Amino acid sequence: MKSIKINDIKEYENKIVKINGWVYNSRSSGKIGFLSIRDGFGIMQCIIEKSVVGDGVFSLFKSLTQESSISVIGEIVENERAVGGYELLLSQLEVHQLTIEYPITPKEHGPDFLMNNRHLWLRSKRQHAILKIRHEIIKSIRDFFDSNDFTLVDTPIFTPNAAEGTSTLFETQYFDSRAFLCQTGQLYGEASAMAFGRHYNFGPCFRAEKSKTRRHLTEFWMVEPEIAYCDINENMQWAEKLLGYILKNVLKHKINELNILERDIDKLKKCTVPFPKISYTECIKMLNDSGNDIKWGDDFGSPEETFIANEFDKPVIVYGFPSKIKAFYMKRDPENEEVVLGMDILAPEGYGEIIGGSERETNLDILLDRIAEEKLSKSDYEWFLDLRKFGSVPHSGFGMGLERVVAWICGLSHIRETIPFARTMTRLNP
Ligand code: 4AD
Ligand code: MG
Repeated sequence: MKSIKINDIKEYENKIVKINGWVYNSRSSGKIGFLSIRDGFGIMQCIIEKSVVGDGVFSLFKSLTQESSISVIGEIVENERAVGGYELLLSQLEVHQLTIEYPITPKEHGPDFLMNNRHLWLRSKRQHAILKIRHEIIKSIRDFFDSNDFTLVDTPIFTPNAAEGTSTLFETQYFDSRAFLCQTGQLYGEASAMAFGRHYNFGPCFRAEKSKTRRHLTEFWMVEPEIAYCDINENMQWAEKLLGYILKNVLKHKINELNILERDIDKLKKCTVPFPKISYTECIKMLNDSGNDIKWGDDFGSPEETFIANEFDKPVIVYGFPSKIKAFYMKRDPENEEVVLGMDILAPEGYGEIIGGSERETNLDILLDRIAEEKLSKSDYEWFLDLRKFGSVPHSGFGMGLERVVAWICGLSHIRETIPFARTMTRLNP
């Protein structure tokens, strides 16, 4: 008999079907048993009546433990009180493996224990919901760029250069020399934008973040569009439109998952495009007025980001940062040499920076100065500087951290649950 997926049960009302899965929960009262089976697509209830299945099957049912792998055969019937509106009247039960002492029980476990058992924790309802939403976000990102004529061009993971500062580089042996794991694909994206007009890359990035925060991973996924003939204002619009598109899709297709996570959906619905925009200088003033003694030229930490974000109920675009605290490739504002044409988008509710981007410096001399200032080796950047010699054009791009967006949309207090197998300063396992 062909098996069906739980999310398709509506199509099989009053038919006999087979479902393959795992025991989610089971209990019995007298001669009737209730079995929740999960199959990766959903969870449904099966009813087992001793008088129907006989003593043998009923006692097999009673021996079932959490996460035992099973197949059930029975008739699908409507029951408005059951999760999903249907249940299965079990007639046959096959046990593939009886699980002994599954470590994750319905009782409370601490985060370390759960992270050590991440390979099993993925099966739980909340983690399942989070990764389903992550999947929807990834799909939306790809759809958005694909339908706007961006070409996906993959950028390398082994690189010779540091694009986002030398303090967070992961260095690795590369035969007789050394390589770094990419912090960003951007510099390669700039080459690609000159070939394709609209480029994006989407893959893992690595940063040796020595901070144990709720927002930092050492391995995270970033999507980075790079656009030729695009200034900082158009860049902001692309970023806003992307976030708007992601939210629309998650709210349309993943309401059940958001409800499982008890996410306040009204807060997400408020985040419509356009987003408010505020300069770095205005932020400093707001912070100072509130008693924070941050000085112009200092970078924001998470308390400052949270304060600024809390002034708005939508993501907020901050622009006009001091050039000293930003990467070498950001274009100086022609009207004020002290600041760059860069932007960060801060998520609401204290989720911090989800997007960072800029218009790119096209002036070769300024770039050379900045490379020297940052003590980077010019020879590693020769190919990149070529882009400013052969048909250089104004261009811009940004990077969006997938896990930060998942944390915000799902309303999670820690980034570790946003990625299947988190890598942090203290975790390389499982
Ligand atoms: O602001 P960042 O460092 O920008 C860049 O890397 C640019 N090269 C992007 C570009 O313009 N093409 O990083 C971009 C985003 C951040 O806003 C944040 O969302 C995420 O990447 N991010 C991290 N996410 C999780 N863990 C970390 N350690 C992260 N570091 C950055
Ligand atoms: Mg940044």
